[in-house]
Amino acid sequence: MPRPPDPGALERLKSAVGAGGWLEAPADIEPFLRDFRGLYRGASPLVLLPGGVDEVARVLAICNHEDIAVVPHGGNTGYCGAATPDESGTQIVLSLRRLNRIRRLDAANNSLIIEAGSTLAAAQAAARAAQRLFPLSLGSEGSAQIGGNLSTNAGGTAVLRYGMMRDLVLGLEVVLADGRVMSRLKSLRKDNAGYDVKSLFVGAEGTLGVITAASLKLFPLPTDSATALVGVKSPRHALRLFEHLRAAVGDLITSFELMPRRAVELTVRHIAGVANPLADAAPWYVLVEISSAADQGLPAQLASQLAAAGEAGAIDEAIIATSLAQAAAMWKLRESVPEAQRHHGASLKHDVSVPISAVPELIERGAELVRRLVPEGETLAYGHMGDGNLHFNVSRTGPDSPAFQARRESLQEAIFDLVGELGGSFSAEHGIGRLKAAELARRADPVELSVMRALKRALDPKGIMNPGKVLA
Ligand code: MLT
Ligand code: ZN
Repeated sequence: MPRPPDPGALERLKSAVGAGGWLEAPADIEPFLRDFRGLYRGASPLVLLPGGVDEVARVLAICNHEDIAVVPHGGNTGYCGAATPDESGTQIVLSLRRLNRIRRLDAANNSLIIEAGSTLAAAQAAARAAQRLFPLSLGSEGSAQIGGNLSTNAGGTAVLRYGMMRDLVLGLEVVLADGRVMSRLKSLRKDNAGYDVKSLFVGAEGTLGVITAASLKLFPLPTDSATALVGVKSPRHALRLFEHLRAAVGDLITSFELMPRRAVELTVRHIAGVANPLADAAPWYVLVEISSAADQGLPAQLASQLAAAGEAGAIDEAIIATSLAQAAAMWKLRESVPEAQRHHGASLKHDVSVPISAVPELIERGAELVRRLVPEGETLAYGHMGDGNLHFNVSRTGPDSPAFQARRESLQEAIFDLVGELGGSFSAEHGIGRLKAAELARRADPVELSVMRALKRALDPKGIMNPGKVLA
């Protein structure tokens, strides 16, 4: 088991990264000790900021030898506390932010080799500069880092078309717990040379090793797109719209996001510069985007398909963006929902997924559970309906209260049971971290869990890599 680092070991770690590569003053390390949602506040004697993979390797070799626990840290935008040290004060934090170089962009091969501490926005910009698209897209992309996106297998608003982070990886460079470097940075679409070892590190939240660089898939840059905000009566109507568009435009659908009226109201109220472009207040809203790398007259196609959906009774009202600025405003409305919810008051969050066909039932039965178990709360279920991924959140006006939080467990239990009954997952895109580790131990298939534990023992026999995260 990891024990408190002795002063000599801390000195060796500092010299492994050199001057400018570590922080220890309380004010300097404070930002590394709190998670984005304010769920956890940890303690640590040292934050290391290595400048290259060789330094990460040296750090892990020392930590493994000395039994020092290591918490890898990216942009600190995660929702499950995976990048925050525990309260013991024995764990050191390893920030990847100085590993932020672009190593190689191969436009003909549609691939980008980039270091883990680069922001997601930097990866997108590098791709765009070469007339390519790196499609992962999240509200926090300006600060979220590629290493964190990989380690949490991030999702976001374009999964429907391009998949999650796992689907966008061609190769990885990983430093193992004992300091050995696995250089598997090939940029190949076909490579059947043995087990897919790199995949183990995607979604492992730094519990098996530290990802230092990745080869990522790029795509043709869309040159034609259409974005619309659509008012619908219910999630069942939204599902009808989805089926209609799928049949009409197939894989051109890039995003299909669902929001209840309340989410739109809160966003307009709390976030400066956000407005609802629809004339009437609809009970539910869908933000839909279709795109293509070839000019296909998509705004006209979307308009005629929405008109057809209106005639079929699937939608009530729709507005198609006529400029990039209007499309961006629609996205701001959607992406500001979590921030609006924070301004509104306390919340209970459930990041869950079900088959898309079961989304309406999840919302209906889930809202009933909220009415019964949290009478002072209101359901705010929104998210990536096209992926079957909802943020089934419950809001309370005003500050948190012990009574509201006391209901967290029974509601969460009931929602996760419902999700299980519908064939879904209690962790869709935000990961496990510390927040859901106990839940994973209870809900995962026991054989699958034993495989996870065997992998952990094999790759990190001393248990130094991000203890307490993913596997409780
Ligand atoms: C979103 O889709 O807006 C995010 O994943 C965050 C959230 O649940 O609040
Ligand atoms: Zn989301």
